[in-house]
Amino acid sequence: MQPIAPNCNVYASDNFKRDLEQLITKYDKKQIFLLTDEGSEQFCRKAVEGIEGITPEHTIVIGQGDVEKNIATTTKVWQFLSSRGATRKAVLINLAGGMPCDLGGFCASTFKRGISFINIPTTLLAQVDASIGGKTGINLDGLKNEIGVFSIADAVLVESQFLRTLDKENLLSGFAEMLKHALIHDKDSLEELMAFDFAKPDFDRLHALVVKSIQIKNHFVTNDPKEQNIRKALNFGHTFGHAFETHAMHLGQPMLHGRAVAYGMVCELFMSVKKTGLDAEISERICRYIMNLYGRFDLKTQYFGDLLELMKHDKKNTSDAINFTLLPTVGDIVINQFGTRDEITAALNYILQLNEEL
Ligand code: GLY
Repeated sequence: MQPIAPNCNVYASDNFKRDLEQLITKYDKKQIFLLTDEGSEQFCRKAVEGIEGITPEHTIVIGQGDVEKNIATTTKVWQFLSSRGATRKAVLINLAGGMPCDLGGFCASTFKRGISFINIPTTLLAQVDASIGGKTGINLDGLKNEIGVFSIADAVLVESQFLRTLDKENLLSGFAEMLKHALIHDKDSLEELMAFDFAKPDFDRLHALVVKSIQIKNHFVTNDPKEQNIRKALNFGHTFGHAFETHAMHLGQPMLHGRAVAYGMVCELFMSVKKTGLDAEISERICRYIMNLYGRFDLKTQYFGDLLELMKHDKKNTSDAINFTLLPTVGDIVINQFGTRDEITAALNYILQLNEEL
């Protein structure tokens, strides 16, 4: 099997069981462990049933959602591996969406100073982003991914059948990261994505778009694996996006990561027009497309102060200033841009203006 993204060890499956069996031939069958979450267990676990080495005794099922991405769940996974006799030769297969892939990768990378892990992402978001590129970690005291290590998976196996188990909200969440990849890389990819019909999703077409999106991510990770420089491009839309996501959680109305990033991209496209010379008409077309696809954002002016505070504490900042990646044009990026309070407020007001048009 040839990887589609060699530096991130990503493989696109065309026969899932055969491909997974091939990927695990190099491991001792008694040292294979499976981590999944309640959602993936229900919809995707049967895909790995009957594969030699994958057994119920060596399977741990964790709870669903970002609330589980913590040290308590991590400890449970470490204890599970330890009590089942996992050695340094063990491999942990993470069959799940982004959260369990991040957490499982972190558990594997720290257990006995590091064992192998394989990601089998079951959501669109995990397929195009979270499972790829070596970011592993957990949250601490309400801060997202505060603890973690860079550690590339031994393999990431991308299987399109899992996408059919997702609802529209989850598809849209992953699709936002695909739009981001296109925006920071090339205009043609963006046009292809904008032509994708969500009313009648063609999953073969989506899989082809996923492969392209992964290759874009692989390009940035290869050039800057530890995010010192150009990998910051992948943070486009995320300064606002993380603030929207965290704020929604504080309100008790959680928002999926990709939806928050979609609205974040609208704000950061607006800032790109003001600060890095992105063509206003091009930006408006893309912003209207995003707002039409994702719908109104229940943003209120009374939230602006809290959102600014959250952005100040974003770990992408290296000083008090709020750090952004912006676009001078579609397919090009400038990292380490800083936004003032007024500029950020104007971008938030732009969302309110676009809301009025829907
Ligand atoms: N999700 C952004 C990155 O992997 O760098």
